[in-house]
Amino acid sequence: MNLLDLRNVSKLFGRMAALSDITCGVKENDLLAVIGPNGAGKTTFFNVITGKFKPTEGEVLFKEERISGLPPHKIVQKGISRSFQIVNLYPDLTVFENVRIGVLAHNRLDLSLFKAVGRIGKVNDEVNRILDLVHLKDKAGNVATNLSHGDQKCLEMGIALTRHPQLLLLDEPTAGMSPEETGQTVELIRDVWQKTGTTIIFTEHDLNVVFSISTRIMVLQLGQLIAEGGPKEIRANEKVRKAYLGEE
Ligand SMILES: Nc1ncnc2c1ncn2[C@@H]1O[C@H](COP(=O)(O)OP(=O)(O)O)[C@@H](O)[C@H]1O
Ligand SMILES: [Mg+2]
Repeated sequence: MNLLDLRNVSKLFGRMAALSDITCGVKENDLLAVIGPNGAGKTTFFNVITGKFKPTEGEVLFKEERISGLPPHKIVQKGISRSFQIVNLYPDLTVFENVRIGVLAHNRLDLSLFKAVGRIGKVNDEVNRILDLVHLKDKAGNVATNLSHGDQKCLEMGIALTRHPQLLLLDEPTAGMSPEETGQTVELIRDVWQKTGTTIIFTEHDLNVVFSISTRIMVLQLGQLIAEGGPKEIRANEKVRKAYLGEE
């Protein structure tokens, strides 16, 4: 059984197909890279999974249940979290507070209520567990806006993890990072993947990164899925070489 299935999914903007008849499956515990040049449809692929856009045609299934058509907050509740290409957090709050908001929201708790029942310790433990996972324990007290770009992306991933997602979507997690930050973020993704067993789909421009960490790769070009397979297969794929790798 696949965790996620797309069946003949198309997404049109006017007459332009950002996604064109995509059929694919993602297995549990995959670390799947979606690659393709700018405008290939990668972000749209995420947007139809998370419910930001309803597919024009076709359907998206999560654990064999149709999710396309559901609003984004319902899809999050089913176990799909994303972090954004643009950093999305509370800039004036600390790292700890940002994660705590996520933990409280996941448990549908109000901070004051939680204090009253004397279980704030449990919330704090969960926040610390997540900060540890995303390597931000030392920076728990820092205000989010003062973090480096790389650390902000780590924090965003931490916030996404407060939902205990079964599927985590990371759109260009290393966008705008220095090579050093990119290396650290890639290690972090691998680490989170291994420690939590979360299925992860990410997009990434640096093909060395893609080939070094992913278990599977999907190649999009002009909204079409032109290849899918393991890193070795994709490296050897003629279509991919011509369409994409040739540009590098
Ligand atoms: N909200 C939108 N409205 C109109 N066109 C869009 C929208 N989102 C994406 N597109 C178009 O769809 C195509 C695929 O975009 P996108 O999914 O962002 O590609 P990628 O993430 O691979 O760069 C592009 O031609 C883009 O201009
Ligand atoms: Mg994009």
